[in-house]
Amino acid sequence: MKVHVFKEETAIGKAISLLFAAKILEKPDCVIGMATGSSPLPTYQALTELYEQGIADFSDVRSFNLDEYIGIDRSHPQSYYRFMQDNLFSKINIKPENIRIPNAAAEDLEQECLSYDAAIDATGGIDLQILGIGGNGHIGFNEPCDHFPAGTHSVALTESTIKANTRFFESEDEVPRTAISMGIGSIMKAKEIVMVATGTSKAEAVKSMIQGKVDPMCPASILQFHPAVTVFLDEAAASLL
Ligand code: GLP
Repeated sequence: MKVHVFKEETAIGKAISLLFAAKILEKPDCVIGMATGSSPLPTYQALTELYEQGIADFSDVRSFNLDEYIGIDRSHPQSYYRFMQDNLFSKINIKPENIRIPNAAAEDLEQECLSYDAAIDATGGIDLQILGIGGNGHIGFNEPCDHFPAGTHSVALTESTIKANTRFFESEDEVPRTAISMGIGSIMKAKEIVMVATGTSKAEAVKSMIQGKVDPMCPASILQFHPAVTVFLDEAAASLL
């Protein structure tokens, strides 16, 4: 794992956006893996700027998102579908047919999960995946548990994740309790991964991810086994390393 510590969140966003732009220049129809949450926002802002400057052209780029809540509609302001539209996709020239986000409204969720992984595999795999990390070490919505889930699957969110995500909803009761998430196996198939973590609330999880033992109780620790992971931290998130 390569680890970079930056002073400013905006610098992290710019640095990661350059990696995405370079990937697109190298392979215009590359497959990118997108994440939600506050951590990738500076990257999405910087990618929008690179698009506006004519540096990043998304016209042939294909994209897969990590996860989606079950139980709220895509039009809900906190759905991950809306999040991606509002924060990135509506601002760049990616084609709607090249965007895939797990469809939590599918009648057969099990089938949706299987076809999601099959669709990723059919592209040849994700070239560059961005990840955030939960305070409990989750990636996507792979919560701490006794194993590393392989494929895309439905998950029950933990109390700590529900509490952490309450800030986006009017009350804790409104936070969905379940979600669809790419599995740890699906994430580990990405050819390259960038991970962003900022703030003291992530410091413990970051320490376990980088210096702890590989353990499904800290799902992000599996990244130690991936050959091409770069971690971008601010000083607060790096404070326990
Ligand atoms: C959410 C998402 C994750 C995200 C994480 C951290 O629950 N499912 O993909 O990485 O929590 O979010 P944030 O970046 O807002 O701290």
